[in-house]
Amino acid sequence: MDVIVEASAAAACVRAAEEMAACVRGTPTAVLGLPTGRTPIPIYHTLADWQRAGRIDFRHVRSFNLDELVGVDSNDPRSYAAYMARHWTIPLGLNASHVHLPQTTGDLERACSAYEEALEAAGGLDLVLLGLGENGHIGFNEPGTAWDSGTHVASLAAGTRRALVEAFGSLDAVPRQAVTMGLRTILSARRCVLVATGARKAAIVARLLEQPPTLEVPASALQTHPHVAVVLDAEAAATLQR
Ligand code: GLP
Repeated sequence: MDVIVEASAAAACVRAAEEMAACVRGTPTAVLGLPTGRTPIPIYHTLADWQRAGRIDFRHVRSFNLDELVGVDSNDPRSYAAYMARHWTIPLGLNASHVHLPQTTGDLERACSAYEEALEAAGGLDLVLLGLGENGHIGFNEPGTAWDSGTHVASLAAGTRRALVEAFGSLDAVPRQAVTMGLRTILSARRCVLVATGARKAAIVARLLEQPPTLEVPASALQTHPHVAVVLDAEAAATLQR
């Protein structure tokens, strides 16, 4: 894995945006896997600035989100669908039909296989951008998730749910499940770019980069992938040995 350490979170996000822009310059119809969370917001805003300035053209890109919460309507501002409209589709001026998220209503098993089929029909992921949960999750692949998992219904870990309390007001209101791309789905991407910023991520970043791969750290599955960039700020890299 290529490890890139930038001085600040802002610089790390610009670096990740450059990786995405380079992918789309090479393949204007690229298929991107995209995360939600706090980490990627500056990346999306940087790309929107570049799009407005004519430096990049993401109009032909198709994207598939890593995950969506079960029981949260796509019109609810706390849904990942709403997040993507706010931080991606609208600021970049994209056609909403190019932006895909897993369905989380109705028959969830069917929704999972439909998502895999749609991804395959689109030609697979050229690049997946990943955030990192403090317990090592990527998407909503919590510790213990099988590495050969496809898109599936996942139960959220207690700590993952606690991290969502701010958005939902109370722990009781936080969804218990999500539909997420599986680790196999993520690892099928031709290139993976994981971004972690801030001191809260330092311990899990050290485990990810300095320990052998383990089911307990889902992101460590990336160690088996040939084209991975891990982009960090100085705080997230603070406890690394090298
Ligand atoms: C969430 C998402 C992940 C995200 C992670 C980290 O649970 N499902 O895709 O990467 O948490 O979030 P943040 O970037 O806010 O730290």
